[in-house]
Amino acid sequence: MASLTIRKLDDTLKAYLRLRSAKNGRSVEEEVRVILRELSEGRAEPVEASVPALAAAPAPAPRATGAAGEPRITLIIGGGIAAYKALDLIRRLKERRIQVRCVLTKAAQQFVTPLAASALSHERVYSDLFDAESEFDAGHIRLARECDLIVVAPATADLMAKMAQGHADDLASAILLAANRPILLAPAMNPLMWNNPATRRNVLQLRRDGIHTVGPNAGEMAEAGEAGVGRMAEPTEIAAAADHMLRPPQPRPLAGKRVLITAGPTHEAIDPVRYIANRSSGKQGFAIAAAARAAGADVVLVTGPVELHDPPGVSVMRVESARDMLHRVEAALPADVAIFAAAVADWRVATEGTQKLKKTAAGMPPLQLVENPDILATISKLKDKRPPLVIGFAAETEHLIENAKAKFARKGCDWIVANDVSPATGVMGGDRNTVHLLARDGKEVTVDSWPVMTKEEVAAALVSRIARTVGATS
Ligand code: C5P
Repeated sequence: MASLTIRKLDDTLKAYLRLRSAKNGRSVEEEVRVILRELSEGRAEPVEASVPALAAAPAPAPRATGAAGEPRITLIIGGGIAAYKALDLIRRLKERRIQVRCVLTKAAQQFVTPLAASALSHERVYSDLFDAESEFDAGHIRLARECDLIVVAPATADLMAKMAQGHADDLASAILLAANRPILLAPAMNPLMWNNPATRRNVLQLRRDGIHTVGPNAGEMAEAGEAGVGRMAEPTEIAAAADHMLRPPQPRPLAGKRVLITAGPTHEAIDPVRYIANRSSGKQGFAIAAAARAAGADVVLVTGPVELHDPPGVSVMRVESARDMLHRVEAALPADVAIFAAAVADWRVATEGTQKLKKTAAGMPPLQLVENPDILATISKLKDKRPPLVIGFAAETEHLIENAKAKFARKGCDWIVANDVSPATGVMGGDRNTVHLLARDGKEVTVDSWPVMTKEEVAAALVSRIARTVGATS
């Protein structure tokens, strides 16, 4: 069995292997195995064909978020007196549940040790572009791409000049040149260096290139008696800026609004063990509750029996019957918006058996049905507490729009979300929905037909339409 020492291959082949393995997210050795397998199966692509293609369109590396879904930062620590604060920055980032992988420039190692950075980040620290072990896998490409954000702290005048010019003669500058992730710089230098026209030009160029900065702040310098703009931003500020880039705050168009939602089926007891029910899974109503919450609303979800987890941040009330549901809905008023997505049973038995009904010689026990309260109609017709926007659902198995229009008139709500629930559509219990939104335009009823979407997409579209209609108060 022959063995192969990759380091001894010629430079073009090595470069090809490194780029190809980085592109495919494999180690160089794994990549060689794949190539040999492809060759034996006659599927190998020519080297010349793949190198330029890769250079033209760098493949986005797989996101390197941790097991717990935590975002990852490559932190480049530059060589300046502020480098000691980078150690605190690692701790501040970890407090925010961000994974950190450190790269130290040669100059940075005069101020902090790789051991300290490694101990705080719980990761291996990188420092050398020509480190056989890390560069064996095109390490600078991986460090540039296997993260969600690159932070440079402190960003020295020299490092920023190299970035502005596109140099790549050490690991830090090579990572910055190879990056296809956002970059945040925390500049730190003497005020004279910061105000030097060369630095001003470089900073302007970097900002034009889409690179973000935090600081520098004004204050005292390490040099005795000097003060001015040039102090690195505090670690807490840098961590906050990085976190903001990683997890930008979502718009909250329903902030300050109270949204009441019903979902799921109802169970109407026949006796202590039997009940009347339907096939509603509650997924659509739960998805609307989650979307309304994500839009900043204060959400109350009144649901019949379903096998779904409470959406985070939503106040969930679990009920059994239509009458329970009505009581909970009335108690939850006032609301700015009420969405009735529950598949409420239309009827219940007139007299619920207190004991399990028995088979008798007389045959089937007679089940006398009476109508349940119509929650949607009841709330739509309220005088004082009627929510300004009341939305009903029309689940139909035939003549969808026609039936939905008739329901619209009967129920007195403002919008109706109509959907075809005939068995062939798979809507009941399924994950997709095709809906039509009926609204009023004066005396006219408008019908807006949406394409087939997941129930989460329907929820998001409905919530954004609601947000446009009711607006936010804060
Ligand atoms: O009359 P139908 O059940 O088809 O009406 C559907 C709409 O009315 C849905 O919005 C549903 O949540 C609501 N509804 C209700 N109470 C009932 C029956 C239906 O709130 N008893």
